[in-house]
Amino acid sequence: MSQVHLIDHPMIQHKLSIMRDKETGSKDFRQLLKEISLLMGYEITRDLPLTDLEIETPISKMTARRVLGRKLAIVPILRAGLGMVDGLLDLVPVAKVGHIGLYRNEKTHKPVVYYCKLPEDVQERLVIVTDPMLATGGSSCDAIVMLKERGCTNIRLMCLVAAPEGIKKVQEEHPDVDIYVAAIDERLNEDAYIVPGLGDAGDRIFGTK
Ligand code: PRP
Ligand code: URA
Repeated sequence: MSQVHLIDHPMIQHKLSIMRDKETGSKDFRQLLKEISLLMGYEITRDLPLTDLEIETPISKMTARRVLGRKLAIVPILRAGLGMVDGLLDLVPVAKVGHIGLYRNEKTHKPVVYYCKLPEDVQERLVIVTDPMLATGGSSCDAIVMLKERGCTNIRLMCLVAAPEGIKKVQEEHPDVDIYVAAIDERLNEDAYIVPGLGDAGDRIFGTK
């Protein structure tokens, strides 16, 4: 069974509360999502492998430790997952970025694929899939399947807000994929939106509604 890592640092809770407020506009929403992504990035990269490197400080030689950042791929689920990329890239600037385009059919709530472009060597990398919202879990599960079909074996899912239903689905279908979230909300409503959630993340990021 995969693990759920609830990253509820006070600064993350504070920023998320502002994002949830319906009065918060796109500019602040985007900025806060970027800031939270960077903060969550510390936790999700906590066990990245380090490599020894001989360097010289102004005082003496030493064996320093560096992260193998080139072994990371960030894969946002379009559109809303894009809002989490820049924060992670601030942390690991050499990471490669792939894109998976999915949207939920408004009636069936099932995801529909429209785009996929991944780094050539994605299967050799730790892949962090980003999507602020884990609702039914359909989009995340489909994105993970697409990555596994490309040979990826080391995948983590990073979300902002999750519903218990979505967590359950990912854990059942992908027991090898750990989930990192800033909040686990109560439930889904009849339109498969997270309650209390923050509304439609894509629309709030890009101002499309
Ligand atoms: C939203 C969100 C997730 C998905 C979550 O995307 O960003 O990708 O819904 O729902 P699920 O867990 O039930 O699949 P949406 O389909 O609204 O597309 P958008 O990001 O382009 O707005
Ligand atoms: N997608 C969103 O953007 N928000 C939700 O609450 C559910 C799916």
